[in-house]
Amino acid sequence: MKTTHKIIQGDSLKVLKEIPDCSVDLVFADPPYNMSKKKGLGWKYSKHITMQEEWDMFSKDEYFKFNKEWLKECFRVLKSGGSLWVSGSFHNIYQTGFIIQEFFPDIKINNSIVWFKPNAQPNISCRFFTESTEHLIWASKNGDGKKWKFNYKLSKQIEDSLNPKGKQTRNVWSIPLTPKKEKWAGAHPTQKPEELLRRIILSCTNEGDTILDPFVGSGTTSIVAKNHGRNSIGIEVNKKYVNIIKKRFKKEQRTMKDIESKVSFRKFKS
Ligand SMILES: C[S@@+](CC[C@H](N)C(=O)[O-])C[C@H]1O[C@@H](n2cnc3c(N)ncnc32)[C@H](O)[C@@H]1O
Repeated sequence: MKTTHKIIQGDSLKVLKEIPDCSVDLVFADPPYNMSKKKGLGWKYSKHITMQEEWDMFSKDEYFKFNKEWLKECFRVLKSGGSLWVSGSFHNIYQTGFIIQEFFPDIKINNSIVWFKPNAQPNISCRFFTESTEHLIWASKNGDGKKWKFNYKLSKQIEDSLNPKGKQTRNVWSIPLTPKKEKWAGAHPTQKPEELLRRIILSCTNEGDTILDPFVGSGTTSIVAKNHGRNSIGIEVNKKYVNIIKKRFKKEQRTMKDIESKVSFRKFKS
């Protein structure tokens, strides 16, 4: 099956407005978590420094407005029966859940998933427990007689140290941090592991479906969508990350020749 992949460089809040109502089957959003500090923390034992990205800094009010706005647009473009997944940490996930429940009463939260990272970074300040999880909300837009897709049989193929293959998969997934072999195209501070996206995409979509990622970063969602015969639309504001996506697609097209696809990149002009 030939699939299409569109990468649009621009601000999601503007780009999303040009996407038609009820046109995508799945949204995966890995938004800014608003966890960056002006000065990152580091220590002498590793090169790791805590987040200090400009795109991840908002005032309290700005952040609430931003989350409400992109969620509104994403629910508008989602088809009935489509799913929206959002990732987060304690910095943003409660607010995200609150916004969904308070302002979008027709949206159903199906699950929250805890992503356990067995090789998480240590806690530098030694004043807290070590954060070793991220949290994902899986919500669906039902109506018009349609309910969310869930490929139950396939979901039982998910396997990790906490989930034996062939059994019902629990909502705690053990997936290591993004391996180096997926980070060869350039540095992105929050690149997600392909395995995380693989589980979400295979569980909630079918071949030929369209997946939207409004904060696509280094392009993980688009690459996994392509490798599993799904179409994708990715939006990313930073050119340096779009360049990483270009490199990743070029390599995928060389190595996965059997999966035909059309990839396009463009800058958003308002
Ligand atoms: C948490 S990262 C996503 C990482 C991605 N999941 C990956 O695997 O690489 C969030 C991304 O959103 C981008 N971003 C932030 N604000 C944006 C906006 N208003 N519109 C589009 N992209 C934005 C950032 O540049 C960053 O790359």
